Amino acid sequence: MISSSIDRPLPTVQIAVFSAKAYDQAFLLRAATAEIEFQCYELGLNPATAVMAQDAEVVSAFVNDDLCRETLIQLANGGTRLIALRCAGFNQVDLPAASELGIRVVNVPAYSPYAVAEHTIALMLALSRKLPRAYNRVRDGNFSLDGLLGFDFYGKTLGIVGGGKIGLLVAERMRAFGCRVLIYDPYSETICRQQGYETVELNKLFDSSDIITLHCPLNEQTRHLINRDSVARLKQGVMLINTSRGALMDTQAVLDGLKAHHIAYLGMDVYEQEGSLFFEDHSLDIIQDDVIQRLITLPNVIVTGHQAYFTREALQHIAETTVSNILEYLHDKPLTYQVGG
Ligand code: NAI
Repeated sequence: MISSSIDRPLPTVQIAVFSAKAYDQAFLLRAATAEIEFQCYELGLNPATAVMAQDAEVVSAFVNDDLCRETLIQLANGGTRLIALRCAGFNQVDLPAASELGIRVVNVPAYSPYAVAEHTIALMLALSRKLPRAYNRVRDGNFSLDGLLGFDFYGKTLGIVGGGKIGLLVAERMRAFGCRVLIYDPYSETICRQQGYETVELNKLFDSSDIITLHCPLNEQTRHLINRDSVARLKQGVMLINTSRGALMDTQAVLDGLKAHHIAYLGMDVYEQEGSLFFEDHSLDIIQDDVIQRLITLPNVIVTGHQAYFTREALQHIAETTVSNILEYLHDKPLTYQVGG
């Protein structure tokens, strides 16, 4: 955290905050100092809404905001010099364009890896023990066990793609369940091995795992890491979990794998096309996305709306780090969490 002592008095700086729900605003207000004032908008940031940030030197954005070149040009023309992301991932930002336009970008690299790891395991358990079905059944006075048969995690093989902060927390917790844990992470093999995990090639992980969970970032190497070919390699009856980024999976290929009874369980907290759906109430809408609608109808699929991070501890950490990032910029200090050039 940055020190609260101020080197030189500054006028209050207005920060334009996009995709700010009431819960974000509450935590940001609590973390704010006298130097900054948050101007919060529920709307997402994109080329159409960037005009709302006119004259805001600092803009704060979230995971599904569209920080493409067009948005960035508008922001730069309006005087923006810093984008303070309130998330870890920055695949939604055209970083080369930001750099060209003289806009620096900072993120919150880890807010609560525990929150995401715990949600990942919640999805695994809810799927294996069919908890949504059991919950609804009992509420209807139906105590039959037909159709609720689960399986033990003990003795199963868990494959983790990405042995970083979240992946290793999942590994540690699933080892306690008695799972054999395999990790594929070409950049962190030594650390994974030092922690006692077996590291394997991706295809070996696909061939051997009863449960596969994705914890790597989204980039050109990992886009559609789960595709038609990899689905064909997976063990019959596999459980697939994605709490990382939607585009790590070719969702249509996964849906086809489910329909063919090849994939037996799917838990996802992220979705490739989530930008137009997640974080909003669409309960009265006719959702036009047939892939997600079909997935939601399947009894062996649980979809949550990008809520893995959503704990009190994480929101507090996001707000505090965002404020700290902004204060570093305002005080001309090195930006601890700058991403890109
Ligand atoms: P991290 O940076 O600590 O770990 C990522 C790991 O992936 C690193 O060890 C890296 O070496 C590895 N990796 C990179 N390229 C890879 C590849 N091609 N194949 C396999 N592994 C590769 O990140 P952390 O904190 O563990 O987060 C993981 C992901 O979780 C993030 O990228 C983000 O997309 C997602 N996330 C999701 C949230 C949610 O609410 N659903 C919240 C926060 C993060």
